[in-house]
Amino acid sequence: MKPAFYVTTPIYYVNDVPHIGHAYTTVAADVLARYKRLMGFDVYFLTGSDEHGQKVEKAAITAGETPLELADRVVKRYQALWERLGISNNDFIRTTQERHKQGVAHIFTEILNRGDIYLGEYEDWYCTPCETFWTETQLIEDRCPDCNRPVEKLKEESYFFRMSKYQEQLLAHIEANPDFIQPKSKRNEIISFIKEGLRDLSVSRTTFTWGIPVPGNEKHVIYVWFDALTNYMTALGYPENTAEFIQFWPASVHLIGKDILRFHAVYWPTFLMAAGLPLPEKVFAHGWWTVEGQKMSKSLQNVVEPNMLIDKYGVDVVRYFLMREVPFGLDGDFSHTALIQRLNSDLANDIGNLLSRSTAMAVKYFDGILPAASQMLEIDSVLKSKTEEMIVAVSRFMDELAFSKALQAIWEVISAGNKYIDDTAPWTLAKDPDQKSRLATVMYCLLESQRIIHCILSAFLPSTTEKALCSLGWNDAASKEGLVWGGLKAGTTIIKAEALFPRYEEKI
Ligand code: ME8
Ligand code: MG
Repeated sequence: MKPAFYVTTPIYYVNDVPHIGHAYTTVAADVLARYKRLMGFDVYFLTGSDEHGQKVEKAAITAGETPLELADRVVKRYQALWERLGISNNDFIRTTQERHKQGVAHIFTEILNRGDIYLGEYEDWYCTPCETFWTETQLIEDRCPDCNRPVEKLKEESYFFRMSKYQEQLLAHIEANPDFIQPKSKRNEIISFIKEGLRDLSVSRTTFTWGIPVPGNEKHVIYVWFDALTNYMTALGYPENTAEFIQFWPASVHLIGKDILRFHAVYWPTFLMAAGLPLPEKVFAHGWWTVEGQKMSKSLQNVVEPNMLIDKYGVDVVRYFLMREVPFGLDGDFSHTALIQRLNSDLANDIGNLLSRSTAMAVKYFDGILPAASQMLEIDSVLKSKTEEMIVAVSRFMDELAFSKALQAIWEVISAGNKYIDDTAPWTLAKDPDQKSRLATVMYCLLESQRIIHCILSAFLPSTTEKALCSLGWNDAASKEGLVWGGLKAGTTIIKAEALFPRYEEKI
């Protein structure tokens, strides 16, 4: 049986429409999912939408809709965008689905029965936009320490989760599993946060109704984060022991932004401990995108809309830019200038030209019929071993979720390919009939190296690499076996490739 790999994105709130921040996490998860499939894993890739809570309820009132009408409308925008971005998720969970609501009610009851949820009374400062309670001392100048917006004092009967009880167990788990929270800097922040002391957590609300009722006490709805986090299991069929739940839980990695790390690295694992369930293997919090140096926000009207980027530059250009521009885990800045620079240099120039030059020569010198390689000279073996070493390097970087380093490693071989053409000068060899077999070897090495490049790149740029592989006469679905030198057979038809990435000239 194939090894299992389960990757998730956050489930996005439906009171906002998708922007490049959401696209970022989802593309990263997709790249990882595609890469793991390529490497022979049985992959489950989940994304979805977070549809309950006061925030959504308020947005619906403002829009003059019911919360479910709002959700139904906005969720389509996410789903349509994921389709355009080539996202290969296996499932899409909505927290308003019956399968989810039942699972959340079940785990709530389970923890209650085990004694770690109890009824009490709550009085504290609440930030509605963040759906978070704060103590007096956590406030910064009487405002929410996360978003700096005003908070309100709330007193209500509430169910509490005995999070304090799990402080030492959680710390021990983090210590024993150095890769549980990544990157390292974020792990250290979480450790200090826990060491300051975990308080019991309010896990129900009585001040609004848009949520999953507490079983047996329906004036309470379950806290939206308790509800939302459970999606990672309900999508697999929890609490039923479905084949998917058995095969894929615990998750291999939850990919999230750094804004929601505490929920994933403190709340979620302690809920699971209380329910007696295994913890996810890894939580990776990536950095934050600003736009042309500024925080993205509706009021600044600078929200970057991914559909507009796809229309303007093409889907794989957007995917490439997001994965290449910023090391995963660090903050980044989006600018059109930076994107166009990547497009024109890395894509149009480096990889695009390499393929069009090489396939054009195969057509010109060999009528598009791939010749066999004969004796390999040192320069050929160097290209071959660079290609093979790249596969190993990419595998190491992908294990670290270092997407930009993986792309850099691939681009080193692309540069080597362009240099190989200059050094071997096929046009000179072509003038001398005695060099025909030397020319054949050069053409073979050049095209075979690119076949492997495009096979591995299919995780990042699925639609472009499909075209490239087609012109290289390689029709097999990308697979691990395809990453081995020698796959292309003499006699294969090579078709001159169109420009994979047309240059973008800024209209002035
Ligand atoms: O937090 N830069 O949903 P959300 C990078 N429903 N990533 C960004 C970003 C930016 N500027 N803006 C958004 C929620 N993201 C909850 C999650 S999970 C059980 C519940 C991405 O719609 C990033 O992944 O506010 C961030 O964590 C997520 O969108 C927040 O999405
Ligand atoms: Mg948010």
